[in-house]
Amino acid sequence: MPEKNIDVLRDHIKTYDADGIIRHIMSEYGQRAVIASSLSIEDQVLLHMAITADKNARIFTLDTGRLNQETYDVMDETRRRYDMRFEVFAPHAEDIEAMENEHGPNLFRESVEKRKQCCSVRKVKPLSRVLGTADIWITGMRREQAVTRSLIETVEWDEANGLIKVNPLADWTTEMVWSYINDNNVPYNRLYSEGYTSIGCACCTRAIQDGEDARAGRWWWENPEHKECGLHFRSKK
Ligand code: ADX
Ligand code: SF4
Repeated sequence: MPEKNIDVLRDHIKTYDADGIIRHIMSEYGQRAVIASSLSIEDQVLLHMAITADKNARIFTLDTGRLNQETYDVMDETRRRYDMRFEVFAPHAEDIEAMENEHGPNLFRESVEKRKQCCSVRKVKPLSRVLGTADIWITGMRREQAVTRSLIETVEWDEANGLIKVNPLADWTTEMVWSYINDNNVPYNRLYSEGYTSIGCACCTRAIQDGEDARAGRWWWENPEHKECGLHFRSKK
């Protein structure tokens, strides 16, 4: 039986490392557990751990339709390397058509509200479809990544989507992530070699400059406190 109670899960995994957490969730929740992957280095760490634990681990990606070619390339490389497939969730065509007919293709540059509308259509709505098939979801978020993430916990209640959310790498440093990638020869997006440190849609992501924080290249025209796309809402529970 899946552990429906978040406190039971929290207590059970409190001494586990990321690998132990993934293994426990895979065996406890099986196909009702999903891993969210944007093909980031963090998500590739989780994918490697999950596929090693369970060949049938469910790993999904939200294909916004505006990702970089390099992201699609590492997706393909990963499929081949692990002999696996990503569950791909895409926005509904009629939602994109209505949005672009009204606001044009580059609405995200016009205001934070319009940028969030685009993220909602291309990411948040498809996310809610996949999360409707799960009791627990796993993300690659880390506290170090941004001011908006400094309080994330390893196990949280996702109020917006009504299920448990687990961030096994919450306390990992960037160095730990890269060591894991290199030690295990995990494929990674080649944009990281071009100064990118956080990668989303091509039109909303750039490389960072010296001294900038890891997410400075995401929606770089906005203030840091706005830089979440709506996939991740913090709850107080
Ligand atoms: S976000 O603002 O785009 O969500 P980030 O790129 O730092 O931020 O991603 C944080 C986590 O959200 C990732 O580790 C992954 O679990 C999930 N995520 C982000 N984008 C996607 C996507 N396109 N598909 C699936 N999961 C995603
Ligand atoms: Fe739209 Fe940019 Fe959000 Fe991608 S990151 S969904 S293009 S606003």
